[in-house]
Amino acid sequence: MLANEEKVVKTQILVWDVPTRVFHWLLALSFLGAYLTGEEDSYRELHLKFGYLLLGLIGCRLVWGMIGSRYARFSNFWFKPREILAYVQAVLRRCPTHYVGHNPAGSAAIFLLLGLGLLSSITGILLYFEVGGELLEEPHEVFASVMLVVVLAHIVGVALSSYLHRENLPRAMVTGTKFGEPSQGIGAGFAWLGIILLLAVVAFWHWFPALGLTASK
Ligand code: HEM
Repeated sequence: MLANEEKVVKTQILVWDVPTRVFHWLLALSFLGAYLTGEEDSYRELHLKFGYLLLGLIGCRLVWGMIGSRYARFSNFWFKPREILAYVQAVLRRCPTHYVGHNPAGSAAIFLLLGLGLLSSITGILLYFEVGGELLEEPHEVFASVMLVVVLAHIVGVALSSYLHRENLPRAMVTGTKFGEPSQGIGAGFAWLGIILLLAVVAFWHWFPALGLTASK
C-alpha cells in the first residue's frame, strides 16, 4: 500500500429511510390488492379503497422525492437515457457499476411505476364516479396491465441486481441498510415520519366508510 493511500473500511450503512421503506411495502400491497380486486363487482369498494391508497401513497412519495433524505430524493436517481442504456449494456456484460442508491435501470422502472400508479388510480376514481362515461374504462385497464408488466420487470431487475452485486436488495428495503463506506450513509432514518405514514394509512383504512369518498349508490 502507498504511504498516502487510505484504507476504506466498509460497514453496514443506512441507505433507505423509514418513510421510503413504509411507502415501498404499502405501495406493493396496494397495487396487489387493487389488481386482485379489479374484476369482481362485489369487491368494487375494496378496489376503490386500494386505489385511493395507491394515489395517496404516491402523492406522499412525490413530496418526499423533493425534500427527503439523500437516496430518496429524485435528484439522486434522475439519469439520462444514455446512462440507462450504458447501465443495461454493462449488465449484459455482467459488470455493472455499483450504486448505493437506485441504479439507472431501476430508476427508470421506478418513475414508470409512479407514473402508471398515478394514471391508473386517477382514471379508476373518475370511472367510479362516472366522469367521462365509459371512455376511461379501456385506458384504466391498459394502465393497470402495463403496470403489472413493469412490476414484474422491477422484481426481475431487483433479483438480477442482487445476484450481480452479491447484495440482498429486498432485505435492504426492509432493514434500510447496505454494505458501504460510512460517508455514504444517511444521517437520519426519519422513523417518526414512517410511523406517522403508517398510522395515517391505518386510520384511512379504518374510517374509510365515514370519509365520504364513495358514491352513495
Ligand atoms: C416481492 C415484491 C417486491 C420486491 C422484492 C421489491 C423490491 C424492491 C427493492 C429491493 C427496491 C430498491 C431497489 C434498489 O435497490 O434500487 C425497490 C424499490 C421500489 N419498488 Fe419494489 N419490490 C417489490 C414489489 C414492488 C411493487 C409491487 C411495486 C409497485 C407497485 C414496487 C415499487 C417500487 C418503487 C416505486 C421503488 C422505489 C422506492 C423508492 O425510492 O421510493 N415494488 N423494490
